[in-house]
This record gives sequence, structure tokens and C-alpha cells, in this order.
Amino acid sequence: MKIALTGTPGTGKSTISRILEKRGFRVHRLDEVARERAWILGVDEERGSLIVDLERLGEYVRENEGIFVAHYSHLLPVDLVIVLRTHPEVLRRRLEARGFDEAKIRENVEAEAMSLITSEAIELHGRERVQEVDTTNLDPATAADEVVAIIKGRRPGAWVDWTEVILGWY
Ligand SMILES: Nc1ncnc2c1ncn2[C@@H]1O[C@H](COP(=O)(O)OP(=O)(O)O)[C@@H](O)[C@H]1O
Ligand SMILES: [Mg+2]
Repeated sequence: MKIALTGTPGTGKSTISRILEKRGFRVHRLDEVARERAWILGVDEERGSLIVDLERLGEYVRENEGIFVAHYSHLLPVDLVIVLRTHPEVLRRRLEARGFDEAKIRENVEAEAMSLITSEAIELHGRERVQEVDTTNLDPATAADEVVAIIKGRRPGAWVDWTEVILGWY
């Protein structure tokens, strides 16, 4: 099975995937895969991030199994997408702690508040292949338990809705 573990930067992809790896899951860190193979199309100067070759990474996903980790992994040909979610204000604090500049923090917090990744994932894969895990009030190990439960089909995710948070901004 091919599973995308995705989410806005700061929602916990790297932290949770390290735990999943320790629990025996095969984890593919797509940023590393792309960098090692020079599957880089360029640099997004405005965002200060690399533009990866999604076509090549799509081939990589077709030839492998396991958990594919990146904030763009839902754009690839996977069987299941798990989107990590975090309350926008908590996400803001995590990104501040990471030293992101204000423009980058805003972009990511807004994307999270608008459920951008989930919308993209549903559009591409259909609602029944997309699940969310809200990590806001969980510790990483418990969040990893939730991800495993979804992978094993033991529970459906619950849809996150930050609309109330957005309304509170106005
Ligand atoms: N339930 C949780 N799951 C994952 N990370 C959490 C959780 N609660 C707090 N965190 C913290 O949030 C940060 C997430 O960062 P990281 O795993 O690098 O995210 P990403 O890879 O999605 O950018 C870490 O500092 C982690 O310790
Ligand atoms: Mg990461």
C-alpha cells in the first residue's frame, strides 16, 4: 500500500514519520529522495524552497510501497492520503519557533486555516481516500497511533474545520 503523509509545514510530518519508522513502517522522505537523485526543477525564490520534479517522484511512488512523506506527497499516485492538521495559532507558534519569517508563517498558517492540502487531496483522490489527524492536542506518539489506526483501517479520521478560527481573525 502507498500512503501519503502530508500536511502544512509544522504539522508534524517529520516527527511522526520517525515514530512510524521505529514501529516498522517503510518511510520515504521525498525531499531527501529528490535531493539525492537531483530531481529538482529549480528554486522558488519567493518561498525559498526547492521545486521538486513531481513526475519523477510519481514514478518513484509507483515503484515503491510504504509511507511517502512531504507536504506535496498527496499530489502523487498513492492509495491513501493522511493529512496532519494543526490549529492555526498553534501552528504559528511552531513556525515562529522554527525561525520562519513572517511572510512564510502567514502563508502557511492561512493555507492550514483554509484546509488547502485536504482540498487538493480530495480533488485528486476522492473523499474516501483522504483522512485527517488533528495533532494539536496530541503528543507525537499518540498522533502516530492515530495514523496507524487509519492505515490499519481501524478508524476513519475526523474532518477538521478551522472556519471558526478564521472568523475570529475579523
Ligand atoms: N502531536 C504532535 N505530532 C507531531 N509533532 C508535534 C506534535 N505536538 C507537537 N509537535 C511538535 O511540532 C513540530 C512539528 O515539526 P515537524 O515534525 O518537523 O513538522 P513537519 O515535518 O510537518 O514540518 C515539532 O517540533 C514537534 O515536536
Ligand atoms: Mg518535515
